[in-house]
Amino acid sequence: MNFVDEGLIVTNDDLVVLDYNDTLRDNFISKVKRGIKIIEIISFPDINEAFESASSGRLFSKKTPVYFGLKRVECEVTVLKENRLYWIFKDVTAQETLKNAKADFVSAVSHEFMTPIGVVKGFLEIIKDPSTPLRLKENYIDRTISQLNRLEKLLDQLLSLSELEMKRYKPIFSSVNVFQLLSEAKEEMSYRWKPKNVQIFINSNETLFVYTDGSALYRIVTNLLSNAIKYSYENGEVEILAKKQRGLLMLSIEDHGIGIKEKEVPRIFERFYRASNCTQTGAKGMGLGLALVKHLCEILNAKISIESKYTLGTKVTIVVPDLHTGQSAKSHD
Ligand SMILES: Nc1ncnc2c1ncn2[C@@H]1O[C@H](COP(=O)(O)OP(=O)(O)OP(=O)(O)O)[C@@H](O)[C@H]1O
Ligand SMILES: [Mg+2]
Repeated sequence: MNFVDEGLIVTNDDLVVLDYNDTLRDNFISKVKRGIKIIEIISFPDINEAFESASSGRLFSKKTPVYFGLKRVECEVTVLKENRLYWIFKDVTAQETLKNAKADFVSAVSHEFMTPIGVVKGFLEIIKDPSTPLRLKENYIDRTISQLNRLEKLLDQLLSLSELEMKRYKPIFSSVNVFQLLSEAKEEMSYRWKPKNVQIFINSNETLFVYTDGSALYRIVTNLLSNAIKYSYENGEVEILAKKQRGLLMLSIEDHGIGIKEKEVPRIFERFYRASNCTQTGAKGMGLGLALVKHLCEILNAKISIESKYTLGTKVTIVVPDLHTGQSAKSHD
């Protein structure tokens, strides 16, 4: 039961410590002992929810920051089956202070992979169990597929990011119909986020064209739109505004959702960074979308800016140059 840098405690549903690894004892909680209650050694705000999930066998996973002296530690508690809670402790002090991007990256990737893999393993155990009713099995199969989709998306984002960071992405420039691109992005995202019932309004001229890399622009728009919907309140509204000004495409996506705390805004383009609004709302994601957007904007030579008011909403604006120099420009300002 030894991970390199993560402390692990296993408890039963009475929250009594059954087992722990050396890292936990050496790096996090020296007074840990089998047989003691976890509440004697840490204070975890969602302990009741975790406890109830373990008693009923409902899957549960939650991350919370906890502090040991000056150490900043992230504690993730996961219930994969009845009577068992897995408490994983990860020291994030170094990540916040050390500028070792590569190490951060590797640990973040493994961490991101660990959660869905753990959950899928738990689901498969339930599906394999002959006593699980067929209806429930079908439900777990669907949930397994959605976890695998999450892993697939993570891999796809990582590959795109590494392709961009290694400057291997070869842009293809052409005259792009902005309205059509926005309509396709709207359709894709409305379908993906259907249950949130967020209305998307496009305010743009149907004959607006820009000479740029259409697939890069599409990825930028879908990522920004996905954020705008994800961080909106249910039944909210998102407005996309696109217009040409002095040969530049000005495109903004505005939501009236949960917003971002002012001091966190400068960090949101870092890969794997997720602001505290996610922990508060439970919005899922990997913190890669905006890192990708940043690189894609560099490829298009575009500028991106964000205005956000915590709890009120966010507006992201990109200014994309029209790289066209000749007659194929179809822009109608
Ligand atoms: N429109 C928005 N409203 C509120 N918060 C936002 C918005 N867009 C981004 N954020 C904050 O910035 C963080 C980084 O965004 P980013 O798109 O990179 O990651 P993500 O949405 O968490 O995950 P994913 O990798 O799936 O995109 C988010 O986690 C969220 O805290
Ligand atoms: Mg995102």
